[in-house]
Amino acid sequence: MALFKDMLHSDESLFKNELALDYSFLPKILPHREQQQRYIATIIKPLLTGKNGKNIFIYGAPGIGKTAAIRFVLNELEEETEEVVPVYINCWQKNTTFKILVDICEQLGYRLTHNKRTEELFQIVKNMLNKKAAVFAFDEVDKLEEIDFLYAILEDIYKKSILLITNDKEWLDNLDDRVKSRLLPESLEFKPYNLEETKDVLKQRVQYAFVSDVWDDDSFELIVKKTAEAQDIRIGLHLMRESGNIAEDKSSRKITLDYTNEAIKKIDEFTIKKSSDLTEEEQNILNLIKKNSEKKIGDLYNVYKEQGGELGYKSFQRKIEKLEKNKFVTVKKTSGGADGNTSIVKYATETKKLTEF
Ligand SMILES: Nc1ncnc2c1ncn2[C@@H]1O[C@H](COP(=O)(O)OP(=O)(O)OP(=O)(O)O)[C@@H](O)[C@H]1O
Ligand SMILES: [Mg+2]
Repeated sequence: MALFKDMLHSDESLFKNELALDYSFLPKILPHREQQQRYIATIIKPLLTGKNGKNIFIYGAPGIGKTAAIRFVLNELEEETEEVVPVYINCWQKNTTFKILVDICEQLGYRLTHNKRTEELFQIVKNMLNKKAAVFAFDEVDKLEEIDFLYAILEDIYKKSILLITNDKEWLDNLDDRVKSRLLPESLEFKPYNLEETKDVLKQRVQYAFVSDVWDDDSFELIVKKTAEAQDIRIGLHLMRESGNIAEDKSSRKITLDYTNEAIKKIDEFTIKKSSDLTEEEQNILNLIKKNSEKKIGDLYNVYKEQGGELGYKSFQRKIEKLEKNKFVTVKKTSGGADGNTSIVKYATETKKLTEF
């Protein structure tokens, strides 16, 4: 009997380059986003001929290549010219004017940011960038707590394009009028990939990440289907990695349907699709939000307490975060105003839930 012949040896792997399944991995070609990249390039293009650039508002659901497309365009720009400086900021990580300016300084190679005030940092950025032209990509703008830096850039950086990227189509509507009227952006929607497009994107990753011929066709097709239904490429990347790991654990040389099904079952545990999958407490809070949509989180908590809710404020906030993560509600951060910074919680009427796994 050749009991061990088909088994994967301990020094072998199904993965050729597992890093290619990381969400931050940028492949050499981005299939099915050429049109969007070209459009973004036209926004920036005037800067290459010494004119002022245009601005653009980019929106679309999570996991459909917005960030990837932007990074791609900025990389190409960097290859093309030294006269236009690309700046990319993740506003989830850098959500205040000060943090953003420190980040820009660092990207420009200016390291002496320590102990400097916001205004001083902006002067430095301004002096450096006004010698050239700049493209600013602000990703995840709905997570910003302040927008003063936008106003400052619009006023004081002469040649620039500003790209604003978000999941929240309405973000722009609520922007300060003075900023809005200076920005006057064009807008570009990223739509989810269809089944065939999803397949192309995932096929490319299989080639990057796995040793050839380890995928059973059925398994791969199933992942494509689940990913297209979920309309989120990250789901596919996750399922491919999980299926590979499970197959390896079982010393299998092939990623068969069994392993993929197991990976899909696991994902179920952390992706909630139906409100009936929420705990009773979470359902109560969701109902409360439904009846009191677009209230400040503090006010919402007061109503919750009045109705006999027992959670502390922190735990209540965590529940809201969970509801947001699973797209039952949206949370908008606002800054300024009489109450300082606060979050407005809105019931998601057109909740885009992940389709049944
Ligand atoms: N056309 C594509 N070709 C190759 N990989 C892609 C493509 N579209 C998306 N991806 C990959 O899918 C993952 C998610 O894409 P990305 O980070 O760009 O999503 P996003 O639209 O910015 O989502 P979010 O709104 O959550 O930030 C990334 O690993 C990205 O490389
Ligand atoms: Mg993104």
